[in-house]
Amino acid sequence: MANFHKLLLIAFFSSIACSMLSSNVVDAADTGITRHYKFDIKLQNVTRLCHTKSVVTVNGQFPGPRIVAREGDRLVIKVVNHVQNNVTLHWHGIRQIRSGWADGPAYIAQCPIQTGQTYVYNFTIVGQRGTLWWHAHISWLRATLYGPIIILPKRGVPYPFARPYKEVPLVFGEWWNADPEAVITQALQTGGGPNVSDAYTINGLPGPLYNCSAKDTFMMKVKPGKTYLLRLANAALNDELFFSIANHTLTTVEVDAVYVKPFETDTIFLAPGQTTNVLLKTKPYQPDATFLMMARPYVTGKGTFDNTTVAGILQYHHPKPPISIKNLPLFKPVLPKLGDTTFVTNFSNKLRSLANAQYPANVPQHVDRHFFFTVGLGTKPCPKNRTCQGPNNNTMFAASVSNVSFVMPTKALLQTHYLQQPNGVYTTVLPSKPVIQFNYTGTPPNNTRVIDGTKVVVLPYNTSVEFVLQDTSILGAENHPLHLHGYNFFVVGQGFGNFDSKKDPAKFNLVDPVERNTIGVPVGGWVALRFLADNPGVWFMHCHFEVHTSWGLKMAWVVNDGKLPNQKLLPPPSDLPKC
Ligand code: C2O
Repeated sequence: MANFHKLLLIAFFSSIACSMLSSNVVDAADTGITRHYKFDIKLQNVTRLCHTKSVVTVNGQFPGPRIVAREGDRLVIKVVNHVQNNVTLHWHGIRQIRSGWADGPAYIAQCPIQTGQTYVYNFTIVGQRGTLWWHAHISWLRATLYGPIIILPKRGVPYPFARPYKEVPLVFGEWWNADPEAVITQALQTGGGPNVSDAYTINGLPGPLYNCSAKDTFMMKVKPGKTYLLRLANAALNDELFFSIANHTLTTVEVDAVYVKPFETDTIFLAPGQTTNVLLKTKPYQPDATFLMMARPYVTGKGTFDNTTVAGILQYHHPKPPISIKNLPLFKPVLPKLGDTTFVTNFSNKLRSLANAQYPANVPQHVDRHFFFTVGLGTKPCPKNRTCQGPNNNTMFAASVSNVSFVMPTKALLQTHYLQQPNGVYTTVLPSKPVIQFNYTGTPPNNTRVIDGTKVVVLPYNTSVEFVLQDTSILGAENHPLHLHGYNFFVVGQGFGNFDSKKDPAKFNLVDPVERNTIGVPVGGWVALRFLADNPGVWFMHCHFEVHTSWGLKMAWVVNDGKLPNQKLLPPPSDLPKC
């Protein structure tokens, strides 16, 4: 223990210590201001766990810079690609109303920004406040290309909770000693599961529970008797996470940039893609102790996973004679077990929209179109003259929506839609329910094979949509974090087993369901979601486990223009990259 504390002491003095949000927010009129950012995509040497490697970064920073704006502001982000990889950036959770050109997913919203090229992402933040995040949206580059987006309320509009003393972003990530691009390339060649990460990180730092890592520990220094707003985002590639701080209770106040009814919890559950703001009340008096904050995965799948734990340190400012923290007792949080589905279910049931006059929950009360999609893993045959490492002997892993494994087009869907030239790029239509119906969560069928296709769902403007996502047990049931671009949806119901369209809708919450952009489909269960298709464009929907996206667990919604001028997708910017 003494040694461990010595390591913590080193961490304490390391320069990469805590990062408080400075409140240098520029004054903005009610309509918002324009904020300019320049993102230079370039290589930077980074060392973690005693491994140094050259990683793709924004401005040489890992993790990337934070974006700070107010609701109503316009963001103009100039991205210049100085690396060999093709790059796109996505502003995860930003609604991008009529501005789908700035959404980012490669070959869906845009062609990639090639080496030496520049693209300006230009969009306005409308009706959102809280924490979101940005990340690369091509291959696995988001392993190092990510950072938080902090959306403050409009000037003069308070939070619907007591004003915090300080705000601190905490972004969880995943670190590979190897190059993540090589990891996914190899996995796609062999058809097997990719190598798992070597560490989880908080703000890029793995912390003291890993070898050769104590100096890379996130430290958060706090004062007693204050309330801190922690802005959490899960930027990990393939892992849902539990997070907890020893001997402290957290109050959840917002998820995915929407306020929620506050509730207290010792542990937060966060799927990749999800974000949340929580209040941390510090002890009234200096507690003469330090506290670990830790995160580790929630695991439901059958594959191998990174079963390590990231830790950071919550440390109280000591008045007068600064005593060394190595003399203080150190407390560790108790995290749920790796497979604690009961915790995850209870946690997600506690999330409710505020649903008051100022922050109403505009849940669609009637439904124009119903959809039922299965999500899960399957297989593809191994190419001739090769041997593959997928499941069931010599296959390749694949993943699908309603058994269709999405094939990336070579042109961007949004442009082909705008030019009305879908022929040869995408084939409508993904059926509104699976072609073959079976017991989705029962004994798996013998045939696990997916079919390939670039299929989309086309919706008229203002369609009120309900869609159910049903997990399958074809290669083992699993909790899948599904993310929808361009919209938030309301989570009106969820359950285990197969969705029952006769009985389950009676139990839907149409009053105060949580509104978000990413939802964990319960392992061996289903979730029912509603949204109003009032944002024209082409909107990606995919599992936010990066490996499942690579395997084809993705689809796109095409939302047509409305009749009125303000119901149409804006014309493409002149610098839109070409394929
Ligand atoms: Cu956070 Cu399509 O992604």
